[in-house]
Amino acid sequence: MSQHEIIAKNFSSIFKAAPQLVVACPGRINLIGEHTDYNNGFVLPAAIDKMITIAISRRKDNLLHFVAVDFGQQFKGKLGKLDRSPQLWPDYVNGVLEQFRKKNFVIGGLNIVIGGDIPAGAGLSSSAALECGIAFGVNELFELGLDKFELVKMAQAAENEFVGVRCGIMDQFASMFGKEGHAILLDCRSLKYEYVPLDLHQHEILLMDTRIKHSLAAGEYNVRRKQCEQGVNALQKVYPQVESLRDANRAMIEYTLKDLVPETIYNRCKYVVEENLRLQVGCEALRRNDIVTFGKKMYASHMGLSKLYEVSCPELDYLVDLAREEYSIAGARMMGGGFGGCTINIVKKFSINEVIERMSTAFKARFGIEPLAYKCNLSNGTYAVSGKK
Ligand code: GLA
Repeated sequence: MSQHEIIAKNFSSIFKAAPQLVVACPGRINLIGEHTDYNNGFVLPAAIDKMITIAISRRKDNLLHFVAVDFGQQFKGKLGKLDRSPQLWPDYVNGVLEQFRKKNFVIGGLNIVIGGDIPAGAGLSSSAALECGIAFGVNELFELGLDKFELVKMAQAAENEFVGVRCGIMDQFASMFGKEGHAILLDCRSLKYEYVPLDLHQHEILLMDTRIKHSLAAGEYNVRRKQCEQGVNALQKVYPQVESLRDANRAMIEYTLKDLVPETIYNRCKYVVEENLRLQVGCEALRRNDIVTFGKKMYASHMGLSKLYEVSCPELDYLVDLAREEYSIAGARMMGGGFGGCTINIVKKFSINEVIERMSTAFKARFGIEPLAYKCNLSNGTYAVSGKK
């Protein structure tokens, strides 16, 4: 039985009727372009074949009943102004429902069953997937006629306003707009996007999960955003046209900003400007199937994230160091917000199992934790598995 069928079956046994709609919403990876989205820059994410399934039906009253099968937990509430929940996961559902309320859409109560195979806390955006699935599902069930762009923005706003993480738009965009076999080159300022076919030839994408979940992440994330804003404010005094770090270039950072701000702010801004450039070159390399050049950009991205942006951690740094020693790995770097989660590695297929074994053994010897390894394929974005549409 597929994951979708299992979740639908769970729904039927809990609510004594089949779900009106079943939605698949994938997690995401990001090939390059980290912490650039909220600086109006570029990112290169993709939806993956690890996903959350949501089975959802309208209720006749205005009550809410959600069940998270993987956690063995449920949430019961009532539509209206919704509050944060100590269980955390309901916030990603309620945060989206709040967005519909704020936009004055009239919706009714809901029964929802949630489950899936995106490892939580691994930096694969299970929360963004859940937000996208709920936004998509509610739009369908109540026939609200919103397009995917609007749904992505509502999913992001749920995270910003309800959960309180000032994340950019990358995760929700990737989960909603993913395309099988493709990465998405997204301009986070205009939201123009292009699908880049990802033909890795003899290579595969391997994620190595440190299983570290630093509680620092959300707080430090917001701090990084502020630091970037400080850099922009300083630059604007000399270059009024700079609205975000997207508009800054290397010369502005080296010759102007450096003298205006503390070293930390300079480092943060330098990283962002360089990462946008790396992404452009890396993307061109991918289009030529030049995996070697792309891999070098990945390593450089990691270096910047670790030393200048300071969002890595010893476990992630060590996994990238181990990758450098493997001749069959073209490139590796930490992925996502940082302070834990996964590294993304581009590995020659023939040696992937040996590589996993060597890296796992070394990592375990150093940190006493067995890292997890995930192979993944690029998949379509959020879609209805059955039911409406
Ligand atoms: C998290 C955020 C994204 C993005 C990445 C870093 O995943 O949700 O918006 O900023 O971190 O690239």
